[in-house]
Amino acid sequence: MRKLIIANWKMHYGPVKAGAWVRAFRRERLPKDLDVAIAVPAVSLAAARASLGRATIPALGAQNAFWESQGAYTGEISPAMLLEFGVTMCLAGHSERRSQLGETDEMVAKKAAALQKAGIAPVICVGETDAERKKGAALKAVRSQTLAAIKNLKPDGQAQPVFAYEPVWAIGTGRACHPEDAKAAHEAIRGVFVKTWGAKWTHEIRVLYGGSVDARNITDYMTTTGIDGALVGGSSLDPRGFGLLCRAAVPA
Ligand code: 13P
Repeated sequence: MRKLIIANWKMHYGPVKAGAWVRAFRRERLPKDLDVAIAVPAVSLAAARASLGRATIPALGAQNAFWESQGAYTGEISPAMLLEFGVTMCLAGHSERRSQLGETDEMVAKKAAALQKAGIAPVICVGETDAERKKGAALKAVRSQTLAAIKNLKPDGQAQPVFAYEPVWAIGTGRACHPEDAKAAHEAIRGVFVKTWGAKWTHEIRVLYGGSVDARNITDYMTTTGIDGALVGGSSLDPRGFGLLCRAAVPA
C-alpha cells in the first residue's frame, strides 16, 4: 500500500496565503512512491486550485462537509460543492470539531457516507481523550468511534475511506504518541473494519497517525507496521518544512 501524508492546515491561511503555500510547495522534491494531500479551509479551495492548476500532487482536500447536497443549511458546504474544486478527499470527525462544535458519532457517519457517495474519500478521524487513556479505555473509545463512523460506508475503489488515529492528547501538544501505542490503536481500527467488511480490506485501506508529527519523528511512525501515513497539523504550515517531512517519510 502506498503511504499517504495529509497536511491539515486547520484554520490557517486564507486565499492569499494558501496560493503562496501551494506555489512554494510545488517546488519541493517529493518521493515518487508517496501520496500527498492538503486539507485546506473551504474559503481557500479556489486559490489552492488556481495555484495547483491541473496538478494532482498534492491532492486537494477539504476539512469538513455537510451531509446534504443542497438546501436550507445556512453556512454549510456540501460534498457536491467541494467536487467543483476537484477535491478528492475530506476530513470527517476531526476531534476539534467533535469537542468544540458538537459533532457526534452520528453526524460523522452521515458526513462520511455523503462524501463517499459524492466520490470524495472520507478521512475519518478517531482518537481517545486523555481521560479515556488514563482510565485504560483508549482502545474501547477508538473502536466505538470507528464502528459508528462506518455504519453507512462501504469499501469502494473510487472513494476509499481512510482512517486517521489521532489521540486527542497528542494533538498540538508536542506529546507524540509512542509508535507502539499507535500501532495498537491502528490494529483496533483495522479490527473493526475488517470485521464489518471482510479480511481482504486489511491491506487496501489506509490508517494514518496524527498528533504532533514532525520531520524528526515521522520515520518512527512510517516504519511501524500498520501505520500507513500521517495527518500533520502544525508541521504542515511551512511548505518547505512539510516538503522535508514528506522526504523523511519515505527514504529515497
Ligand atoms: P498537530 O500535528 O499540530 O499535532 O495536529 C494534528 C492534527 O490534528 C491533524 O489533523
